[in-house]
Amino acid sequence: MQYRQLGRSDIRVSAICLGTMTWGEQNTQEQGLEQMDYALEHGVNFWDTAEMYAVPPRKETYGRTEEIIGNWFKARGKRDKVVLATKVAGPDQRFSYVRDGKPRLNRTHILAAIDASLKRLQTDYVDLYQLHWAERDTNAFGKLAYAPTRDDDGTPLAETLDVLAEVVKSGKARQVGLSNESAWGTMHYLALAEAGRGPRMASIQNAYSLLNRSFEVGLAEVATRERCGLLAYSPLGMGALSGKYLNGAEPAGARLTVWKHFKRYLTPTGVAATAEYVKLGRRHGLDPAQMALAFVTGRPFVTANIIGATTMEQLKSNIASGEIKLSQEVLDGIDAIHKVYTYPCP
Ligand SMILES: NC(=O)c1ccc[n+]([C@@H]2O[C@H](COP(=O)([O-])OP(=O)(O)OC[C@H]3O[C@@H](n4cnc5c(N)ncnc54)[C@H](OP(=O)(O)O)[C@@H]3O)[C@@H](O)[C@H]2O)c1
Repeated sequence: MQYRQLGRSDIRVSAICLGTMTWGEQNTQEQGLEQMDYALEHGVNFWDTAEMYAVPPRKETYGRTEEIIGNWFKARGKRDKVVLATKVAGPDQRFSYVRDGKPRLNRTHILAAIDASLKRLQTDYVDLYQLHWAERDTNAFGKLAYAPTRDDDGTPLAETLDVLAEVVKSGKARQVGLSNESAWGTMHYLALAEAGRGPRMASIQNAYSLLNRSFEVGLAEVATRERCGLLAYSPLGMGALSGKYLNGAEPAGARLTVWKHFKRYLTPTGVAATAEYVKLGRRHGLDPAQMALAFVTGRPFVTANIIGATTMEQLKSNIASGEIKLSQEVLDGIDAIHKVYTYPCP
């Protein structure tokens, strides 16, 4: 396993990060505990969760994934072996059950959210506290172009940073980071920190995969020059890049079979691009899912690749992908497909 520096901090994280959001919905607590045991034994010291997990989010499972992780810490007592990341939710109409029904990135909400997360996680601190998504309207979650639809920009970024400064000062978080952010937002936060207003963002967690490389346009330069590396989520396009949904297949129990409203990675061009990537992998004797993961882990602006798994078999294969270095021939093949299918699933 490779280890990389988290931002400018002295924290070293495994290049493969353990995603957790299926625990409490698609996976039981028992399965989550088994995944954590296996991951840590195989060098995966970096785990990512969020207050709103399990996914898909609903009132009954809100905070459940954090609780499962907390139960693992209680049972195993290995808190110091793990670099733990969680997130505070931004506004979302669906979250009538989060705090006062309108989660915001202001002082009241962030201070309440971190305390509740720490309680569920049964720990005194998280290593990385991330803003799950912006309070203002920006292009994330499937929106390629910037096209704001509302005027309310929400809590000023400087105010959010002031609260994060308090959180860090109190020892409840060692580092802070972004998620689902744009180049404008990331640079703005970094510039404010440079001017002495709050802690410096150590990372940015955005979607990135063979089906979604929009990060490369504006954010890859920011991530590299600012040492605010990408924590890439949905590196398999929610499983699509394994090829298991090709030819209209609907594998029983799989995420995109069970929850039809997850459409981001099954667009017509997404499916066509996937078919090409799967063919390329097989031509080179690679498992398509491992090829897709190795591509993400190998990108120079990526700090960690956040994998997800619902079975131990998937988990083992996904962690093992960390050892694969793609040949120039495969990378050239990927580039050729990318030229045809550039942004199939933003
Ligand atoms: N910041 C954010 O907004 C955000 C958003 C999404 C995710 N995340 C983070 O990123 C993590 C990973 O995201 P993700 O789960 O969407 O990642 P992903 O790698 O794109 O999808 C993982 C899913 O694909 C299927 N799968 C995994 N390995 C496979 C394999 N080898 N062969 C076939 N199918 C396989 C599994 O689902 P099935 O078994 O059901 O097919 C698994 O749950 C999450 O747990 C979370 O920590 C963050």
